[in-house]
Amino acid sequence: MLRRGVCSPSTLFTLSLVMPFLSQCSAGNFNPCLEVVPGLTYRCMDLNLSRVPAEIPPSTQNLDLSFNPLGSLGSNNFSAVPALKFLDLARCCLQTIENYAFEDLCNLSTLILTGNPLRYLGPSAFFGLSSLRRLIAVETNIFSLADLPIRHLHTLEELNVGNNHIESLTLPKYFTNLTSLRFLSLQSNRISYISKGQLDVLQERKGPYLTLVLSLNDIKYIQPGAFEGIQLHELSLRACFNNFTVMKDCLQGLAGLQVNRLILGEFRNIWRVENFQNGLLDGLCQVQMQEFVFICFKRFKNNTDTLFECLLDVSTIRFVDLYLSQVSAVPEFSQVQSLECKLCKFGEVPAVKLSLFKKLRVLRITKSKYLTNFVKGFKDLPSLEVLDLSENELSFTMRCSFLLAGTPNLRHLNLSFNNLITLKDPFSCPNGLLSLDFQHSILKNFGTIPLFRFFTNLTYLDISYTSVQILCECVFWGLESLQVLKMAGNSFKDNSLANNFRNLTQLRTLDVSNCKLLQVSSSTFANLRNLRDLNISNNRLKTLDSMTFLPLQALTVLDFSNNQLTFLTHTALKSLIDRLIYLDLSHNMFDCSCTHLSFFEWVKKQKQLLQNIERMVCSSPVNMKNVSVLNFDLSNCQLSITLVAVSASMALVAVLIMFLIYKYYFHLYYAVVLLSGCKHSSERGDTYDAFVIHSSKDVDWVKEELVKTIEEGVPPFRLCIHYRDFVPGVPIVSNIVQEGFLSSRKVIAVISSHFLESQWCKFEFEIAQSWQFVEGKAGIILIVLEEVDKAMQRRLLGLSRYLRRNTYLEWKDKEVSKHVFWRQLRTALLDGKTWNHEEVRLM
Ligand SMILES: *[C@@H]1O[C@H](CO)[C@@H](O)[C@H](O)[C@H]1NC(C)=O
Ligand SMILES: *[C@@H]1O[C@H](CO)[C@@H](O)[C@H](O)[C@H]1NC(C)=O
Ligand SMILES: *[C@@H]1O[C@H](CO)[C@@H](O)[C@H](O)[C@H]1NC(C)=O
Ligand SMILES: *[C@@H]1O[C@H](CO)[C@@H](O)[C@H](O)[C@H]1NC(C)=O
Ligand SMILES: *[C@@H]1O[C@H](CO)[C@@H](O)[C@H](O)[C@H]1NC(C)=O
Ligand SMILES: *[C@@H]1O[C@H](CO)[C@@H](O)[C@H](O)[C@H]1NC(C)=O
Ligand SMILES: *[C@@H]1O[C@H](CO)[C@@H](O)[C@H](O)[C@H]1NC(C)=O
Ligand SMILES: *[C@@H]1O[C@H](CO)[C@@H](O)[C@H](O)[C@H]1NC(C)=O
Ligand SMILES: *[C@@H]1O[C@H](CO)[C@@H](O)[C@H](O)[C@H]1NC(C)=O
Ligand SMILES: *[C@@H]1O[C@H](CO)[C@@H](O)[C@H](O)[C@H]1NC(C)=O
Ligand SMILES: *[C@@H]1O[C@H](CO)[C@@H](O)[C@H](O)[C@H]1NC(C)=O
Repeated sequence: MLRRGVCSPSTLFTLSLVMPFLSQCSAGNFNPCLEVVPGLTYRCMDLNLSRVPAEIPPSTQNLDLSFNPLGSLGSNNFSAVPALKFLDLARCCLQTIENYAFEDLCNLSTLILTGNPLRYLGPSAFFGLSSLRRLIAVETNIFSLADLPIRHLHTLEELNVGNNHIESLTLPKYFTNLTSLRFLSLQSNRISYISKGQLDVLQERKGPYLTLVLSLNDIKYIQPGAFEGIQLHELSLRACFNNFTVMKDCLQGLAGLQVNRLILGEFRNIWRVENFQNGLLDGLCQVQMQEFVFICFKRFKNNTDTLFECLLDVSTIRFVDLYLSQVSAVPEFSQVQSLECKLCKFGEVPAVKLSLFKKLRVLRITKSKYLTNFVKGFKDLPSLEVLDLSENELSFTMRCSFLLAGTPNLRHLNLSFNNLITLKDPFSCPNGLLSLDFQHSILKNFGTIPLFRFFTNLTYLDISYTSVQILCECVFWGLESLQVLKMAGNSFKDNSLANNFRNLTQLRTLDVSNCKLLQVSSSTFANLRNLRDLNISNNRLKTLDSMTFLPLQALTVLDFSNNQLTFLTHTALKSLIDRLIYLDLSHNMFDCSCTHLSFFEWVKKQKQLLQNIERMVCSSPVNMKNVSVLNFDLSNCQLSITLVAVSASMALVAVLIMFLIYKYYFHLYYAVVLLSGCKHSSERGDTYDAFVIHSSKDVDWVKEELVKTIEEGVPPFRLCIHYRDFVPGVPIVSNIVQEGFLSSRKVIAVISSHFLESQWCKFEFEIAQSWQFVEGKAGIILIVLEEVDKAMQRRLLGLSRYLRRNTYLEWKDKEVSKHVFWRQLRTALLDGKTWNHEEVRLM
């Protein structure tokens, strides 16, 4: 392989480490570069290139050529890509960079040369880089800063020459010309002695104070005075010293230094100094600094009496990842305003000792898994404004009168991510509090009474995931300045939001996500005129009611994702569109049936407003389950709407026909019979003189009076009577038509209130009327048995009563009237009667 030919053995070693990755990628020889942003950004990493590939357009601004065996750079090698701003040449086996190699790159801002075993760097190699701000030359075989041809790089801000072989910290004269330089890293070089004069050039230099990183050099000695009169922004000396003695002595050598931030300590995996012992930091008394950071120092014995001794005038102290379990002596007149202990080893909040830092404004003790107790209170810290005890394992009873009595001006209290906090008489807490954060700690005794009633200035309250159940609507009373209320992951009485937020008229942000909510009462938001952000996601709400949300006139962000919404009504949509700029409706249970067509049409038009729109999926109907709402084909719906309309009207017609058939069955049947059997009818001749229609309740009258008188009288008539003459086993309808009407000359209707009430009788009567109409011959004889409802009678009998051929008789239970009645009836029956021989003989 080419790279084996060109690279030095040490590079080969590095390459062999990345070889599995390389060989995997370079399987194909002619892989084109990856176009990350067309015309601007190209990644040509590890493509076995030996030059800038021709396919890269001249407009390219970001080019990654790392892991290619370029070998050497000659003049104007980058003339094809003059617009470059970022060029990565890491691990390109570069041994030679000739003069003017980058001459065309006047806009180049970042040049990465990491991991190239440079042998020759032309004195004009970096000419033309008139905009260069960052030069990363880590692991590039550099032996001295003086060899670096960068004297003309006036714009350079960051120079990283870590992991090289530089032995001397001497900053060359040309540094006075690097007036933009802010950051110089000499990490992991071979600097072991720092002596007077090496940094003098910084005193002459104009420009920003430098951040100087000397970590991971094995420093044996710093000559006192070496830093005298030097001003730095930051000095980092991590893991530089072999043992306690060396460290102590070297720190003495910092005397006279002025620095904004001094960072001492080691690394998580690199421990060199065996123990912290008194006197270690004595040298810092001679250093003027604002901030002191002590990081990753594992070995603390308990003799830390002098820890703070030389940090009197420091305003900020940060202890990070120290094995510090207690605070020792704190000197009087300390000026420390901000103290942070992160990942330290306190078992109890060292309130008593820390109260000696009288000027303390900010105190943070965080991320300690050992910190479990908060028993003793802070005393007399009138300046303390911020107390952050988050991310520990604290379990304690928060009795402010005791714990925070000495901090009357506390404004921000952070007790989040702890174990268990039991609230006791919070009325005694400093009532000027502005923010209070309990999130992810379990809060006890909250939810039934207005505990924070006196926190009238509180603007920020976070009780998310505190296992609180809000049982009383009064819980947030008094919080009249509250602007942010975060309470995700708790629960409310009846899983319902009631008037819990009535007093929070200033509220701007409300997070009630993950609260198992089933419903929101319509008055919940009545007073939240200033609310802008509402997160009500991850609940079980089925509706988004426009009336409930109406009072939220300032709302711009609404997260309603992960609920059980099936669709939004037209009114809800209208009231939302105007105000919102962010609406998340993803992961609801949309009903993708055509009923909600207008909603889905709206969705497709709101790609700007709707967040996570691709995660709005249907949950019903079954065949649409898990289909994105965006893929819901509206045209299908239009089609099926016509389909539905057509089939609906067809069904309607069918029903109508069925109804008509049902209603006029007899007429139809009768018509059919008539049409098919006029002959049949005349063949048969008239068997009966009259067919009697009557209510079954009047059967006695029919039997006793009508049948007896008419059939047994002279002349005798033959009547057709249901109960007697219908042929058993033949459907009743056929009987009525065939036995009744077709076999009779006349129809006698026995009208009574029973008759009028009976649907069946009415029906028979109607058929009788149409029979009369069709047959055109016979008459109907109406016998009115009793006084009946005149209106009903009129409606049923209608014209029949007045038709010429019809007879209208009224039955009166008196002998005289009866006589007349029978005579009239016989006369009516005689009309059209023909007598056969038998009958004549009988008469
Ligand atoms: C890289 O390219 C050179 C020719 O430029 C070729 O000889 C060599 O085999 C290539 N290496 C790989 C790994 O493809
Ligand atoms: C750089 O240019 C020289 C000629 O000036 C050429 O030989 C060499 O291959 C080029 N190298 C690259 C990496 O483009
Ligand atoms: C360098 O940047 C300037 C300003 O962005 C631009 O006008 C100029 O064309 C760029 N030069 C090259 C060679 O692309
Ligand atoms: C600083 O830059 C100026 C102009 O570029 C140059 O004349 C001078 O020699 C430089 N000084 C040093 C010490 O390199
Ligand atoms: C500390 O380290 C220095 C040099 O690394 C060595 O000379 C000296 O003996 C060591 N001192 C102790 C007490 O180990
Ligand atoms: C300090 O350490 C010594 C031994 O290392 C021990 O005897 C003493 O009890 C410790 N003192 C405290 C306060 O822990
Ligand atoms: C409280 O501390 C947590 C964890 O460090 C942090 O995420 C949160 O933002 C802090 N709260 C406030 C109000 O600053
Ligand atoms: C609340 O804020 C007001 C105005 O900023 C201030 O005057 C008042 O003293 C504060 N209340 C408390 C209890 O600090
Ligand atoms: C909260 O509001 C209710 C009803 O509007 C009112 O009765 C109560 O006094 C208010 N509480 C406070 C502390 O403002
Ligand atoms: C709403 O809360 C959920 C978690 O409960 C969170 O994932 C989401 O990002 C929040 N939405 C917004 C808009 O902040
Ligand atoms: C729904 O779709 C997502 C991704 O599209 C998939 O991960 C998930 O398993 C699907 N769920 C069901 C119930 O099909």
